[in-house]
Amino acid sequence: MSCQTSPIDLKQPAISDERATRPVKVVAFLCTWCSYAGADKAGAGQLPVPSELSVIRVMCSGRVEPALILEAFQKGADGVMVLACHPGDCHYKEGNLRAFCRGELLERMLPQLGINPLRFSFAYVSAAEAEKFSQMTRDFVAKVSQI
Ligand code: FES
Repeated sequence: MSCQTSPIDLKQPAISDERATRPVKVVAFLCTWCSYAGADKAGAGQLPVPSELSVIRVMCSGRVEPALILEAFQKGADGVMVLACHPGDCHYKEGNLRAFCRGELLERMLPQLGINPLRFSFAYVSAAEAEKFSQMTRDFVAKVSQI
């Protein structure tokens, strides 16, 4: 078997009836310095944020090991987001860049584990981007609901 072989059909993922009817669960790992502050600002500004989102606050996106993301999927998350400081803004210099690289690798690995890679998202959200946080989380939850 080639490493390029995808064991799942990304266009027609199999879902059970139970999973098709219940609300989706999305876990979002947010860097406390930027993305969490953006989420906080979205809340303070009363911007819509999906109720399906379960936020886990971390000191840096570089702290989010792929094993944590896989554990979230294993424990029933339908989607996982990692939101980080923009490049150059990480308080720990390069944690966000490490998180980006891990995310890229994870996206390629997920199909091999039977998980649609569209269920994972990595993005940069700053403390000033409350609108972006609101829109991005709503879009992701809608996408995961479609899957
Ligand atoms: S401190 Fe925010 S991603 Fe590193």
